[in-house]
Order: sequence, then C-alpha cells, then structure tokens
Amino acid sequence: MTVDRYGVMGYPVSHSRSPVIHRLFAAQTKQELQYELLQVSPEKLETAVRQFQRTGGKGLNITVPHKSEVTRLVDHLSERASTAGAVNTLTFKEGEIVGDNTDGYGLLRDLEINLELSLEGTNILVLGAGGATRGIIGPLLEMQPASLRIANRTLGKAQSLADHFSRSGPVSACRFNVVPVSDAYDLIINATSAGIRGEEPPYPAAAVSENTICYDLSYGLKPTPFSLWARKHGAARAAMGWGMLVEQAAESFRIWRDVRPDTDQVLRHLTITA
Ligand code: ATR
Repeated sequence: MTVDRYGVMGYPVSHSRSPVIHRLFAAQTKQELQYELLQVSPEKLETAVRQFQRTGGKGLNITVPHKSEVTRLVDHLSERASTAGAVNTLTFKEGEIVGDNTDGYGLLRDLEINLELSLEGTNILVLGAGGATRGIIGPLLEMQPASLRIANRTLGKAQSLADHFSRSGPVSACRFNVVPVSDAYDLIINATSAGIRGEEPPYPAAAVSENTICYDLSYGLKPTPFSLWARKHGAARAAMGWGMLVEQAAESFRIWRDVRPDTDQVLRHLTITA
C-alpha cells in the first residue's frame, strides 16, 4: 500500500515546523501519511508543484516566498484564498489543483478560541501592509470590529489595502509611527517582517494601554522584539504566533484528511520542544 504524500514548499524551508506538526496530527488521528520538506526556488516553483502532482502527491503547504505566485497554478481558488491574494494549501484531486488559504482562519481560531478574545466591537490596529496583512484583513473584518486601522511605514501600501477592503468593513490607513489614538486599541497585531529582519522599528507606543492585547504573527522560543516592546509598554498580554501556526496547519489537515486534529496537545509540544 502506498502512503499518501504531503509536504511544505518554500525557500528557504529548513526552519519550517510544518513536518513536526503534521506528523503529530497524523499520529493523534491515527492516519498514515508522509510529510516532506521541499526546498524550491522561485524559478522552479511550477515544475516542482507539477512534478509533485504527477507523482501522486495529495497536498502541499505553500510558504514564503511562493504564496502569491502559486495562485497562478491552481484550477480552483477558494474565496478566502482569492480575498487574501495568496494560497498556503494546495489539494491535488482528480487531476486538478485546488488552492485555499487557512492563515486568516488560523489567526481567528487562536484569538477567539485559544486566547478567548471576542473581536466584535473592538478597535484593532494592524502594523505592516505586506502579504501577511493582506491575508488577515478579510477574516478580521468578518468578526465585525468597531474599527480596523492599518499602519505602515509606506503609507501608500496601507492606503491601497484599506481601499481594497473598504466595502467589507470600517478599515482605514495611517503612517506606521503616527497612529491616531482617539479610541484605545483592544488588539495590536504585528504583521511586519521587521523582527525577522532583526530590525526594531518605532512601534507606536501611544497605541498601547493596559487593556491592549499585542499579537505578533512571528514566533520564537524567546520573546520576539515586538513582544518585548509590548510588555515594556504595559500591554495586558503579549502573544506570539505559535497558535496561529498550529491552527492554520490543523485547518489544512482537515481539508486533506477530513478530520480536525486537537491543537492544544500539539501547541504545548511545540512551544516546549521547538
Ligand atoms: P510579508 O509577506 O511577510 O507581509 P512583505 O510583503 O515584504 O512581507 O511586507 C513586509 C511588511 O513589513 C511591510 O509592511 C513593510 O513595510 P513597507 O511596506 O514600508 O516596506 C514592513 N516592514 C519591514 N521592515 C520594516 C521596518 N524596519 N520598519 C517598519 N516596517 C517594516
């Protein structure tokens, strides 16, 4: 019997925790599957995806820097992937490629279920206006916040994202370091790549109050620079994106295997042993 094959494609990809997470999900749900790390450069993306499909692969996670480019290769794009302009989950079925995006869903599950936050009526500030931000604005607006402000170093990028999503909810744009603070922010999400690049930009300190939850999409075994900054400025809580990572993986697993794994167990294992 051949074992169903899955994998994560990125460049670089060696740091990815997806193989560990999916193997734990498989063990927990008693599924037999194989999950590989696939390092693929941008010029080889199409060839590698087609080869994976041709050789009977069942599904792929797609990570940086391919999430937007891979949308060109899919036969069917889910609505959430289309809104995000990015795909993180491919399913190969009956000769066709289906593209989905579970990142925004993963973030919402972590915020609402794991962190027990209710987003309805809240004021949200998102820092950064790149691909990561684009993927989470639609799902956040669906939770009906009172306001969602996107702050970016390059104002034009925040403005064009705000314009793009303006029909879905109360979204506005501003400069990164000049954030209006008429109402206190309940939630500040760091979606910049500054921390990953080892940079510490002037995060807007005036936006933090003792009731603010700060959430960094990045994660590490040690607190990220944004988490340290949030604690220093008296945020109610500083969380990193481990939960989002595990939740987006669980949703990919559900799409592929039609069973939802228990994320608590895996999240605990990961943050202890990562
Ligand atoms: P991703 O797909 O991870 O979002 P990206 O599309 O390259 O990556 O976007 C990176 C985001 O981080 C951008 O919003 C970028 O700001 P600019 O649009 O002004 O470039 C932001 N960013 C990266 N380094 C930063 C820094 N040192 N200070 C502030 N913002 C930074």
